[in-house]
Amino acid sequence: MQSLLGKGGATFEGLKLLLCENPLPPIDEAIAAAQAEAPRGNYYTEPYSAPLRRLLAEQLNVPEPLVHINAGSELILRQLFDRLGDRVHLLTPTYALFPEIARRVTETPLLPERGFAFDLAKLEVPHDTTLVVIVNPNNPSGGSFDMGPLPDLLRRHPATAFLVDGAFIDLGGRSVATLVERHGNLLVTRTLSKAHSLAGFRVGYAVLPSAPAPLPLKRTSSLPTSRLVMPRGWPSVSASSGSWSSRWATAGWVRASCGSPRRGRRTMPASSTRSAPSSEHYTVPSSWPSA
Ligand SMILES: Cc1ncc(COP(=O)(O)O)c(C=O)c1O
Repeated sequence: MQSLLGKGGATFEGLKLLLCENPLPPIDEAIAAAQAEAPRGNYYTEPYSAPLRRLLAEQLNVPEPLVHINAGSELILRQLFDRLGDRVHLLTPTYALFPEIARRVTETPLLPERGFAFDLAKLEVPHDTTLVVIVNPNNPSGGSFDMGPLPDLLRRHPATAFLVDGAFIDLGGRSVATLVERHGNLLVTRTLSKAHSLAGFRVGYAVLPSAPAPLPLKRTSSLPTSRLVMPRGWPSVSASSGSWSSRWATAGWVRASCGSPRRGRRTMPASSTRSAPSSEHYTVPSSWPSA
């Protein structure tokens, strides 16, 4: 039986824009890699997702010990907020999770009349802020920030951690992950859920500094993404590796999907959609019963 149970109670099929799921399926290489690994599902997972960690370190050009993998970046974000979420500064509107899990929040509003753009060089960080969060590209406004001023911000506020949530960075923009090695107060999170279309596989990762304050992340008990003993690991790891290893295919696919509505229409499951009368921007299949 096919389950329609979705995150956030979105128990219907269709485009759930609030959840930011990619409507396109994973690339063929990722599906094939996951299928090939499925018969080994009897084995427990291994704690450190070593093969994927190595691959990500290589691809991102960061030292392997700085890469942390867990079951979706939301889990990593929650762990980071547990440690650093006392006084959080947000650029709003932002990802809905952050105001929910921060203990106290201050904000810099991104203004619609300026297209939600903001010059980070002008960011004023309130005294005693424990964590500044920059979502780049931003959710829900979709714009990218010029990250040029970031190193200066990091130097000016050495006691404040800066989290750059790059959940959507594979769709466009330059990651700041390589800066983590040089800045002990920069934390970068990313995910395979968006551009790689692997939300259901729950693979998120972070590039975190080792000094001055190492931030080893707790692992979950379920560890769906982690096993070393097999060359490619559990299906999540395999799918991720398959997707990353074919990154040029993925990049081309993203470009093709964004740039060509015809390919998008061909690739997307046939779904005639209409907007639900909701403030939460859900789009539901036309078969959705009227209220
Ligand atoms: C900005 C942002 N960060 C993080 C996440 C969490 O993604 P995941 O837990 O699937 O890695 C999302 C999901 O919508 C998001 O929009």
